Amino acid sequence: MPIQVLISDPLSEDGIYPLQQATNIQIEVATGLNEDALLEKIKDFDALIVRSQTQVTRKVIEAAEKLKMIGRAGVGVDNIDLEAATEHGIIVVNAPDGNTNSAAEHTIAMLTALARKIPQAFNALKNGIWDRKTFIGVELKNKTLGIIGLGRIGAEVAARAKGQRMNVIAYDPFLTKEKAQKMGIDFGTVDDVIRAADFITVHTPLLKETKHLLNKEAFAAMKDGVQIINCARGGIIDEEALYDAIVSGKVAGAALDVFETEPFLDHKLLTLPQVIATPHLGASTVEAQESVAIDVSNDIVAFFNGDPVRNP
Ligand code: NAD
Ligand code: MLT
Repeated sequence: MPIQVLISDPLSEDGIYPLQQATNIQIEVATGLNEDALLEKIKDFDALIVRSQTQVTRKVIEAAEKLKMIGRAGVGVDNIDLEAATEHGIIVVNAPDGNTNSAAEHTIAMLTALARKIPQAFNALKNGIWDRKTFIGVELKNKTLGIIGLGRIGAEVAARAKGQRMNVIAYDPFLTKEKAQKMGIDFGTVDDVIRAADFITVHTPLLKETKHLLNKEAFAAMKDGVQIINCARGGIIDEEALYDAIVSGKVAGAALDVFETEPFLDHKLLTLPQVIATPHLGASTVEAQESVAIDVSNDIVAFFNGDPVRNP
C-alpha cells in the first residue's frame, strides 16, 4: 500500500516534484475543505501538507488515525496544534527559510507603498481623480525603522532598510549589542523601539508572549504619526487598538498583510484611507512557493524512507 499524502492548501506544482517522483507515495490534492470535510478525509492519510489556510486542530489530529507527519509549506506553525501532534506522535516539519527573501521584499514594498500612499493614489486615479495634493508622502531616508523580531526576515528587512538610508533599531530576545553593532543597527528593548521609531515592523512568530504585542498601551507610547507594518502574523497587533489609534490620529498609517481572522473582509480597518493591505501575500512568489514545497516534500520522502528530516 503506497504512503498517502494529502495536500490541503494550494502548493507549487513544481515544488511537489520530489513527492511525484517517489514510487512509494500517492498524492491527493483537496483544497478549501471545511473542518467537517477534513475530519472525514484525514482518516486515510499518512501525511498532510498545509500552508496557512488549513487549521490543523486537535479535532483534526484526533480524527487522523494513520497520520504520522504534517508538513507546513512555510514558516509559521501557529495553524497546527503542536501539543496535540506531539501527544499523538506526529512529527511536524516546516520550511523555515524558503520564503525569507519574499517576505522581506514584501515588507519593504509595503513600507514604501505606505510612505508614498501608492495604493491610495492608484485607486483615485482608477476612479478618474487626478489628485496631487492628498497623496503627499514622507521620505524613508533618515527615518527610524523599528523592528520587533530580528530573525531571518527581520534581519533581511534591516539590511534593505539601511539601503534606503534609514536608521534601524531592533529588539529580539536573542539580539545582543555586539550583533547589532556588526549589522550596523541600534539595539533596544521593545519600549526603546516603540518610542524611537517612525515606522514599526513586526517579525515575530505569533506566540502567547507576542499576542497583542502592539496594543493600546504600546500605541500610546509611540511617536505621533508613527506608521505600522505587519507582514508576520495577525494577532501580534491588536486590530481594535490599531483602529482607534488611527482614528485618533496617533498612528498615521498601517500596511497589513496578515490578520487576526483570515480571510479579512468587511473589517472596519479596511474602511480607513490610512490603511493599505494585501491578502497574506508575503510568501506568494513563484520562487518562495517552489522552495517551501520542495523543502517539505523532501522531508516527507526522507521520513518515509527512514532518513533524517531537515526541519522537525
Ligand atoms: P524566525 O524564527 O527566523 O524569526 C523570528 C524571530 O522572532 C526570532 O529571532 C525570535 O527570537 C523573535 N522573537 C520571538 N519572540 C519574540 C518577542 N517576544 N519579541 C521580539 N522578538 C521575538 O522567523 P522568520 O522566518 O523571520 O518569520 C517571522 C514571522 O513571519 C513568522 O511568524 C512567520 O510565520 C511570518 N511569515 C509571514 C509570511 C507572510 O506570508 N506574511 C511569510 C513568511 C513568514
Ligand atoms: C509563513 O508562515 O510562511 C507564511 O504564512 C506564508 C504562507 O504560508 O503563506
